[in-house]
Amino acid sequence: MMDSFEFTKLAGAVLSALLLIFGTKTVIEMTVGHSPEKPGFVLPAAPPAEAATAPAGAPAAPAASGSGEDVVALLPKANPENGKAIFKKCQACHVSEKGKTPTVGPNLWDVVNRPKASYPGYKYSEAMQKKGGDWSFDQLAHFLHGPKAFVPGTKMLFNGLGSPSDEADVIAYLATLADTPVPLPK
Ligand code: HEC
Repeated sequence: MMDSFEFTKLAGAVLSALLLIFGTKTVIEMTVGHSPEKPGFVLPAAPPAEAATAPAGAPAAPAASGSGEDVVALLPKANPENGKAIFKKCQACHVSEKGKTPTVGPNLWDVVNRPKASYPGYKYSEAMQKKGGDWSFDQLAHFLHGPKAFVPGTKMLFNGLGSPSDEADVIAYLATLADTPVPLPK
């Protein structure tokens, strides 16, 4: 049987152990743990990410992904096969089979050279309806490079592909989606 003296010793030992554990933990937290000020000063390092999401295609960001003109320049050598693979990203919102009912975005069958905002029965944003003109290669290049910059107020919630050559390739693929595929510019 444990007498009361032994019990006191045991209780004391347990208490000391607990003190040691929590004491050490507290000391570690005080010395190496995160003091609240530090993360606050780390945050200002974030602005580059903000700058990256700034208006796509705006003059401030050309270094990262070039301009719509770069896309136009790449079109003569664009690769529709690669574009077909990239088009999977567009299929989140677009169908492209002839006559198929549009989903989130308009059906993209035969889109090259068709008047903007003209797919029958699709409700375009006011911004797109007012843009005017046809989807020439040039206009597609500028739109896909920075949808919101080219058509402010568009309801196409997409930031472009970030790569002029991918953008040129996907346009080359769009050109194949027609009864008579549209030849790429020379
Ligand atoms: C998040 C959904 C979404 C994605 C992803 C998307 N689009 Fe769109 N797209 C839309 C919507 C919505 C519209 C209608 C825009 C408007 O009315 O302002 C549109 C419009 C268009 C138009 C104009 C067509 C017309 O009939 O005037 C083209 C061209 C186009 N998209 C191409 C693409 C391509 C190519 C991709 C892939 C690289 C793509 N989109 C990715 C939603 C999307």
